[in-house]
Order: sequence, then structure tokens, then C-alpha cells
Amino acid sequence: MIGLEGIAYGGDYNPEQWPREVWAADVRLMRQARVNLVSVGIFSWALLEPEPGRFDFDWLDEVLALLHGGGVRVDLATPTAAPPAWLFRADPSARPATREGHRHGGGTRQSFCPSSRSYAEAVTRITTALGHRYGRHPALALWHVHNEYGGVNAVCYCEACAQGFHRWLADRYGDLDGLNTAWGTTFWGQRYGDWAEISPPRAVPIPVNPAQELDYLRYANDVHRANYRRERDLLRELSPGVPITTNFMIANCREMDYWAWAGEVDVVANDHYLQAERRDNHIELAMAADLTRAVAGGRPWLLMEHSTSAINWQRRNIAKRPGELARNSLAHLARGADAIMFFQWRASMFGGEKFHSAMLPHGGTGTRIWREVADLGAVLSDLAELRGTTVSADVAIVWDWQSWWALELPWHPSADLNYRERIEAYYTALWRAGVQIDFARPESDLGRYRLVVVPSLYLTTPAAAANLRAYVEAGGTLVVSYFSGIVDATDTIHPGGHPGALRELLGCVVEEFLPLHAGERITLDGGLNADQWAEDLHPCGAEVVHRYLDGPAAGQPAITRHRVGRGTAWYVSTSLDAAGTGSILSAAGRDAGLGDPTTGLARPGSVEGVELVRRSGAGRDYLVAINHTDTTVRLPIAGHDLLADRPCTALDLPAGGVRVLRLPGPAASPR
Ligand code: GLA
Ligand code: ZN
Repeated sequence: MIGLEGIAYGGDYNPEQWPREVWAADVRLMRQARVNLVSVGIFSWALLEPEPGRFDFDWLDEVLALLHGGGVRVDLATPTAAPPAWLFRADPSARPATREGHRHGGGTRQSFCPSSRSYAEAVTRITTALGHRYGRHPALALWHVHNEYGGVNAVCYCEACAQGFHRWLADRYGDLDGLNTAWGTTFWGQRYGDWAEISPPRAVPIPVNPAQELDYLRYANDVHRANYRRERDLLRELSPGVPITTNFMIANCREMDYWAWAGEVDVVANDHYLQAERRDNHIELAMAADLTRAVAGGRPWLLMEHSTSAINWQRRNIAKRPGELARNSLAHLARGADAIMFFQWRASMFGGEKFHSAMLPHGGTGTRIWREVADLGAVLSDLAELRGTTVSADVAIVWDWQSWWALELPWHPSADLNYRERIEAYYTALWRAGVQIDFARPESDLGRYRLVVVPSLYLTTPAAAANLRAYVEAGGTLVVSYFSGIVDATDTIHPGGHPGALRELLGCVVEEFLPLHAGERITLDGGLNADQWAEDLHPCGAEVVHRYLDGPAAGQPAITRHRVGRGTAWYVSTSLDAAGTGSILSAAGRDAGLGDPTTGLARPGSVEGVELVRRSGAGRDYLVAINHTDTTVRLPIAGHDLLADRPCTALDLPAGGVRVLRLPGPAASPR
């Protein structure tokens, strides 16, 4: 995919922070650690173009030549996430504006307005110059456009952005009548008679029209995407045949709708950082990796950044303990990554990220981290044959950025409504049961999945509703969690009683939402516990599986099941705890014919805390096994241990250990 023979290994390389003497040592150490790809130049604009139109490429020529000489391929960045100070001196309006109308300052990166004309002109100049100079460089493997679009300056509220918004709205709605209807501007007398009367959703004492907020987020996503495309199209011309990507922040960037970005890149690349304080952060990692694979359309993807140990930007930057670096890396690899890259190669001595871990720590090569980095390089070269293989799943969770945006708009029934929280609750229950999970968009074909889970799909388009219905009618099993199917794309309530878009499919109607008090816990029959949310739920076709025993809906239905066509649609009207979520998924899993009926979803042989993921391709099946527990585990799985390079009749996994097996026989079918 990017022309490397095995798994790509390396990280962000910022040689400009070091004197020239260090560069040759860097390349030597890269070879020692079997680094074969580095991302260069991500924040180098001010050095490459010290004055507008005057370029200094000598140092980069030298760096690329050294890397090339050492056999290290280059993922060359356009440095457009960090415009030089001269740009803003000449045009202060190129700075982004906050909701409150405050213009951001400088002395940092990503402090530019994405609609700024002077920024766009400067971007074209530097990107063209880089494309000309390096577009056919023998070290070049990949283009790394920009860095983390939408990371810091996702939404700008300045006047240039307002004007762009007017054009975007005119495109979307055709005329003001269309906009007035879609936005429901009869409410609070907001009717517009001219595009120029519409402002971005700037700071106001009470909420702005939710449809306006939602469109502004769509617009912001489109502005960044258009910026990416402009750079990509320049590079395509100047550097034919070289793949182009940009690093996403899938699962952790709310503002960018990565389903909309997926088709723009030649290969999906993702950055992922652990939520360091969480003890179960390996599950969140798995979720982000599975979602990345989904955005990549199931194809292999690149882990463009993660950390060797501590990061620097969370409240408590808990360091990774011995072995964790490899576990994290191989968990990404297991879930489809064909590149394992870090931020960054050599730890910075100065600047805001000097306490961020790196492949080569401040302490140099005498450190544990360096030894683990070098070991990982050897491990990855032993796993070269996994490159290009893919992962398949029977279960999918529906993920939708636009529904995430809409769900978390203000003035909703409860501040406890949280998109990520419900998604993670279902993901975690499935992960713990040893189930391989895909993510899917609400409108995509779901026919290959036995079970589909839909947490908090508050915004449900008619197309999504029809798609979910068709999936169930054809024999699928669906589990829908509360506050789904409520509004359409303009944040207008679907008619006929909640959840309007899914009511017939679920065979029940919600008369009233019954959010709970902070900390309130409620119980359901069957020993289920829940909090946050309940509903005044009435079946109209569905059977009642569980009822509320107490709380505001005591005695009423809580969880229902509806046979539709050849399939089944479950509805869960409350926020079940982990055990409850697991038990409902087990029951639905039985409907779906998944796994051993006595254990519901759990795969035979699976052990809690041991992650088993299969990658298959070219007639071969591989198993990545990661032991997250603190005891040795022995599993009755035979194969060829790729890291020890010997056959094994059982899989012995030490505490915290990882094994990768080539399984015997031809690749089993995904089912
Ligand atoms: C992001 C950026 C990197 C670096 C890391 C630190 O992912 O892309 O440049 O700042 O965060 O974790
Ligand atoms: Zn702006």
C-alpha cells in the first residue's frame, strides 16, 4: 500500500530540533531499531520558508538524503498546520476567532482560520514548492498532508468563516425559504430575509438554534476537508503515484466526520493516545482501532502516532509499564494496522512536548524504553507476513459523528446523555465477551453482520431508519439503545411519538423521557441495574422482556423485543450497568445465533482479559493473543508461533505477554 515490504515502523522525526551532528546518529539508531518509515517536516514551515516566497530546502535535502542512504523511507509532511509568524504579521485576520469573538494569539501551532485567504495562498505556495522538489524523491513513500485537521481549530467563528457559511448554506438549501423551513426559524422569530443576516453560532446567553449549530459543524468539517483536498490535488499532480494521507484522530475527535473523510485519502492513517488514567484503556484502544478499520473500509490502515510511554497533555500522564508499549502496538496491528508509528522519534529538549515520551528518550539508548523500541522493531519484522491481511466480524456497532454532534447539543432532557459513554458501554461488554466488533455507518449495508448495536442514534435519517429496518427484515438482530431515532438531519422531531424513526421497527412508543437524578440507581427484573435514564415505554407489537422494578417507571416495560420479518429488534430504554449490558447482548446474541448458546456471546475458549484477534488473507489465518491479566494463561490453540519461530501445540501467554500464531490449515471462513 505504501510500498514497504513488511509492517511500517517508525515515528515523527523532527531533526530541525537537533544539530546536524545528531542526524547521522539518528539514522544509525533507526536502523538498529529497524525503523523503516519516518514522518518528516510536519511543523517545519517557518524553516522551509523563512520569508514569504524564499525557501530553504538545503537542510531537508540533507535529511532526506541521509534517511535514503540508511534505507529509511519518508512520509513527507506539508507543514501547513503550523504557519510561520510572518503570515499573521501581514494578516492578523488569519488567526481563528472563538465563539466569544476573541482572536487567538500565536506562539503555537494550528492557530489559523481555516477559511483565511492569505493562509490558503501561502499553503498553495509551500505545498507546490515541496511537491516540485520532493515529489519524485526516491525516499518518498507517502505524503502526510497537514497534521490532525480539526484538532485544535476545528471551528472558527470569524467573519471570513461567516461568509463561507452563507455560501455553504445557499448550496445546501438553494434559497432562504428552504433554510427557514429546515431550521424552523418561526421559533423565536428567527426568520431570515438575507443570507448576510445569518451568523455563525457565536456566544449568546441561551442556546442558538440547534439546526444552525448542527449545520455549522457540518460546514466546519467541509472547510477542513476542502483544505485537505486542495493540498492533495496539488501533490497528486506533482508527485504522481505516491499515496497521500492525513492523520485522523478517529474516536477521539468529535468535530471531524471521518465517514465523510474516508474516501479522500489513499490510505487511512490514525493517531491514538491512551486515556492514561483509565485502567481499562486497552479496551478504548481496541475500540479506536476497530473504528479506524471501519473508516478504512476494512482495509489495512496506518497507526501514524501513538506513544512509547507517557504523554504530556492529560491531567496525570501515567507512564506505560514494561511490555505495555508492545501490547498497545500489537493490539493496533491485530485490528488491522500495517504501520506502527510513534510521536516521536527523539524526545524534545525544549518546547511544550519535552515531557512527552519518545522512541529515543532523554536518557538515550541505555533506557528500558529504547530497549523495548528496538525489540518491537525486531518483532514487527518477524510479522511482515501479516501485512495486507484483514479482520472480519459478525457484530457491528453503528457510529455516526453527526448524531454525536446532535445528541450533545444543549437543552436536552439530561446532561447525562453522552454519545461516547453509551458506545463504549456496548463496545466494552462485547470486548469482554471476546467478540470481534466492526463499526458501521447507519446508512451502510449491514447484511454481513449477525448482530448490530445502535447506541444513542439520536439523529436518524429516514434512509438510516429504512436501512435498519431492511437489515432486521432480512434476518438481522438489532439492539437499539435509548434516545435513538428521535430527530432528522435538521434536528426536527420525527412525528408520531418517540422514537419516531424507529417506532414501528421497535414495536414500542415512548410517551415521555424520564431522566434520573444524579447518582440515582434503579433496578429491573432479572437482576438488572441501571442509572441516568428511564422511559415511559409502551409496547405496540413488541414483547416485554424486562420491566422496571422501581424508579419513575416502576412496573412498566424497560426492555422489549420485536420480531420483524425474519429478524428481531431489541429496545433498551435505560442505561444498563456493565453486567446488564452484557446480559442483554448475550440474549440478543442468542437470537442472532452467535457463539455458544449457554454462554451467549462468549466464544468457546475465550478468557476474560485475554484479547484474541484474527487477521486473515491470502489463504492464511493469524491469531494475535494479548494477555492483559496478571497471570499466565494457557489456551488450547495450536499454530506456528511467529515470534519464537516454532510450532506450538498450545498457546502459553505469560502475564502481559503477546503471541502471534499462524494458524494451521486454510483460512477459515469469517463465520
Ligand atoms: C498529536 C500531534 C503530535 C503531538 C502529539 C502528542 O497527535 O499530532 O504532533 O503533538 O499529539 O501527543
Ligand atoms: Zn475563521
